[in-house]
Amino acid sequence: MSTADCGVFVPPVPTAGLISRIPPVLLPRRRIVLLGGSFDPVHAGHLTMARAALDQLEADEVWFIPATQAPLKSRPLTPGEHRRKMLEIALQDEPRMRVETCELEREGESFTIDTVRYLKKEHPDCDFTFLVGSDQVEQFHKWKEADALARLVKFAAVARDGRSPRTKYPIHYIHMDPVPVSSTEIRRGNRLNYVPQALLDYFYANRLYCKEFVQSRVPQHRYMHSLSVARLTEQFAAAAGLDANQAWLTGLFHDVCKAMPADRMRPWLEAVCPQELTMHPAAWHSYVGAQVTDRVFGIHDPRISNAIFHHVKGTSDDPLAMCVFCADKLDPLRGYDSYDLIDLCCRDLKAGFEKCRETNREYVDSHRKDAVWTN
Ligand SMILES: [Fe+2]
Ligand SMILES: [Fe+2]
Repeated sequence: MSTADCGVFVPPVPTAGLISRIPPVLLPRRRIVLLGGSFDPVHAGHLTMARAALDQLEADEVWFIPATQAPLKSRPLTPGEHRRKMLEIALQDEPRMRVETCELEREGESFTIDTVRYLKKEHPDCDFTFLVGSDQVEQFHKWKEADALARLVKFAAVARDGRSPRTKYPIHYIHMDPVPVSSTEIRRGNRLNYVPQALLDYFYANRLYCKEFVQSRVPQHRYMHSLSVARLTEQFAAAAGLDANQAWLTGLFHDVCKAMPADRMRPWLEAVCPQELTMHPAAWHSYVGAQVTDRVFGIHDPRISNAIFHHVKGTSDDPLAMCVFCADKLDPLRGYDSYDLIDLCCRDLKAGFEKCRETNREYVDSHRKDAVWTN
């Protein structure tokens, strides 16, 4: 206690140190929704769920908790560092959402009970609600120490189709309009409009899911050819001082429309390059592939589109287009000895390209007239 000259009590001025000593119980409590999952990758459905939780649970924040390896899933996950970065990209314009990495930092499998105990200890000023999908409610009894967990934290779930699965545990149901997308669909290259372009750019910069995108659209032998052409295109590009990842993507996607039926390709050609309709339908996959790579897969790279467009006939002298044209013709899986020409392309791309074009012309002249279109 202190007194001024007049004898009136003057309270001491609070300092930062004093404020920091106020017991947590006196601070306003924050309401946090915890959203665990693989997020492999995160998509619009997750964000819609988080927004519904913020609104209906009157929460202050949603924390996304990517799991190391979800205990009830056997599929190997994309490395945690990538899933964390993808979440950061997806949440960059969401000030009330953030990534909590405690499970990634912990060794071994992720168990919710361990996460909840850790977070309650680290954040005594927070009230947590754990949000799960309605499909997980029916499995909740299988979770590690489910009864103890239910006593530690509140649970909320999304009611799907107005359905609230039966469980002995208290669950607060929230409602949201269904978002027709799943991480499985995204990994197969479907419904990519449900992830932001910045996330697609991250996929392609880090070669995430790209192989599955192609594999889900072509037969196995064509997929193996695509992988082989990707490797060879990258090899030629590296030797020529070009961007290796750009080359790998070009090689991987060059035949992505090879198995598309002609009647599905025709509307693409009519809309974008009707002059190519006069070409043999077996060549259409190059023109449509260039469009699909850009518009469906979101690889907005004019050089990649150009290289795929010209990969059948070798009609572009852009170095990247030369790389994929040569790689396509010299793919070792074609079963003939292409070693010398591969070596030439690595030493002198232009000379290798001219030689490949010449060899291709000779092949076409000595076989049926549409042989060129089968590449
Ligand atoms: Fe090919
Ligand atoms: Fe092709």
